[in-house]
Amino acid sequence: MTEQALKVLLNDLSLEEKVMQLVQLPGVAYESGAAVTGLLNDTAKARTLRLAGSTLGIWGAEKLNRLQKEYMENHPHHIPLLMMLDVIHGHKTVFPCPLGQGAAFDPELTERAAAVQAREAAADGIHVTFSPMADLCRDARWGRVMESTGEDKYLNGLMAAAMTRGYQGKNLKDAGSVAACVKHFAAYGAAEAGRDYQNTELSEHTLREQYLPAYRCAVEAGARLVMSSFNTWEGVPSSANPWLMQTVLREEMGFSGAVISDWNAVGELVPHGIAKDEKEAALLAMRAGIDIDMCSGCYEKHLGALVEEGKVSLDMLDAAVLRVLRLKNELGLFEEPFHGAAPDKAKAILGAAEHRSLARKAAAESLVLLKNEGETLPLKGGKIAFIGPYADEKHLHSAWAISTDREDGVTVWQAAKEAFGQEAELRLAPGCLMLADGTATSLEVFTCPDAEKENARLLAEAKEAAAWADTVVLCLGEHFHQTGESASKVDIGLPEPQRRLLNALKPDCKRLAMLIFCGRPLTLQAESEASHALMICWLPGTEGGHGIMDVLTGREALSGKLPMSFPRHVGQEPLHYDQYMTGRPRPKEGIGSFTSHYLDCPNEALYPFGYGLSYTDFRVSAIRLSGDQLAKTGELTAAVTLTNTGKRAGTAVLQLYIRDLVGSRVRPIKELKGVRRVPLQPGEEKEITFAITEPMLRFWTVNRRMESEPGDFQAWIGLDSSTENTAFFTMTE
Ligand code: BGC
Repeated sequence: MTEQALKVLLNDLSLEEKVMQLVQLPGVAYESGAAVTGLLNDTAKARTLRLAGSTLGIWGAEKLNRLQKEYMENHPHHIPLLMMLDVIHGHKTVFPCPLGQGAAFDPELTERAAAVQAREAAADGIHVTFSPMADLCRDARWGRVMESTGEDKYLNGLMAAAMTRGYQGKNLKDAGSVAACVKHFAAYGAAEAGRDYQNTELSEHTLREQYLPAYRCAVEAGARLVMSSFNTWEGVPSSANPWLMQTVLREEMGFSGAVISDWNAVGELVPHGIAKDEKEAALLAMRAGIDIDMCSGCYEKHLGALVEEGKVSLDMLDAAVLRVLRLKNELGLFEEPFHGAAPDKAKAILGAAEHRSLARKAAAESLVLLKNEGETLPLKGGKIAFIGPYADEKHLHSAWAISTDREDGVTVWQAAKEAFGQEAELRLAPGCLMLADGTATSLEVFTCPDAEKENARLLAEAKEAAAWADTVVLCLGEHFHQTGESASKVDIGLPEPQRRLLNALKPDCKRLAMLIFCGRPLTLQAESEASHALMICWLPGTEGGHGIMDVLTGREALSGKLPMSFPRHVGQEPLHYDQYMTGRPRPKEGIGSFTSHYLDCPNEALYPFGYGLSYTDFRVSAIRLSGDQLAKTGELTAAVTLTNTGKRAGTAVLQLYIRDLVGSRVRPIKELKGVRRVPLQPGEEKEITFAITEPMLRFWTVNRRMESEPGDFQAWIGLDSSTENTAFFTMTE
């Protein structure tokens, strides 16, 4: 449809029809109604179902095509219904959770993974995914760090853009594309004390320098929707904040798509104490620039009256409706309302072998090896015991992978049997229950009345297996409902039965390789000390077991790096490598009285951002700068020679960091400004260069502008954020 035709259509809509384009209903309303039983008849409820512009949380080509057909037949203007879903790290084929994808430091792979997710979701009737989540995450207590790609704005920006490109493809009209919705705008990740839905206290310069850039990257990559966040900034919830949603998002970032609220976020303006009732909530949200009200009912109930009373202008309403109609049009729904979804096609595409093989590669790439004493890994065969509640666990995805099938998951144990065949003797023992009786998760309280007895039985079996084995592969981790939404924690250690299991098994293990499944950084000091090898597996997805065994057997190289700092103690949170300089930095030596430090814990992470071992060794030469002066319009080249000094092929993840030594505001200790994945054969050497230009040095100065300031800078190039391989340069006027 042309823009002109869209406007003609808009002008022809009744007030009610317009308002309802801005209303999103939960899919269950349709599941119990139209799609299944033909409920689009003339009851009051059916009227809402017939007119609402979009729905979420249901999938399935047959069901959604039937719904679309019936909906359009009943809609007075035959406008198609928009179907949205949280496809966060997979529809049927599940990839590593976003934090795991962050660990791969491989935007190209993430883009391909997103394209697979889009293809599967679109074939199954979906038009929009609520992803990427570009929230910066610095506090591991917040459960939703699992849904992000970590603590660094630059990496998050690369990933958010990659996901957006992958989901949307070249043309939204293409059958395999879905529209991306970047969320949660803005600064949802800064929830105070890491408690979900809590507000933020965040300065404007930190908001602009640290929190906004990754959303901007998704917007610049073309994301067609933005979701407003639950939290406040400067005391105003995003869904009632015109400065954020219009001045920043539309005017500064140039966003032209549709804005949707988070679930019930418009209604929550009332408990926030910002609106006195739902009608005022609808008014504030509309004025802020929220186009679609996700499931609060406030627009549905009150927007028509607000327009009739002149509190919301018709122009404002029309502009919002037009953005929704445009989105439908960009997806080609007016011409092809099913967007290529079809049951046969879905059957062939969902979980296709090539999708699973990409998920396997992605799982292998996401693994981060933190310790490998005496080359415990790769495994050498012999007698290997796989112990722990994750050893034979199929559920290797997050709670957000709602549309997948748990039974499709490949466990570590299954993959180990395939990988070793007769070449090793293998044993399996669960060791303990995943959680202690009475543990709260995001959805329910875990109960097992006989937990003590059951754990004692499992432990006896595990001890025997450990004593028998040459190597124990201990598979521990959080329950998948301990991260994600509504899963904040103050204790970010392993669940208690698993800590007990480790202590009890330690004396029996000759060699101990520990695999940790998690959706957040955990406190792993004791676990690190107790093990010879320690590997972070995140929530690796459908092909998790295969990806892990590919690496454990050495068939695949290891290249994953931490996308968030792993703390020594939860009391260090929020912990991130790019902290601002303090006037009293802790000295390298001594106890550092009256400097910025803890009495009972180092300042540094146990394992820092960007860290991860490989099966080979890399040497990075000193930095060679093309000059020591950078003109504002010029470019400096920073080069190093990278050598694979080990015996195996591997991929190094080279990282460029920069610090502004003197600024009008305090500057971070260092900031990531470039990443290169470099595959190298044993003995191979490559020169790797990074360009340094003025835009990379901009920040929110005291002039309240994003700009750079001439002066001295320090650059580092190395294999993690603690590298000391450094050089200096000056930016001239
Ligand atoms: C979450 C969003 C999600 C939405 C729709 C909300 O509770 O905060 O991230 O996209 O639900 O499922």
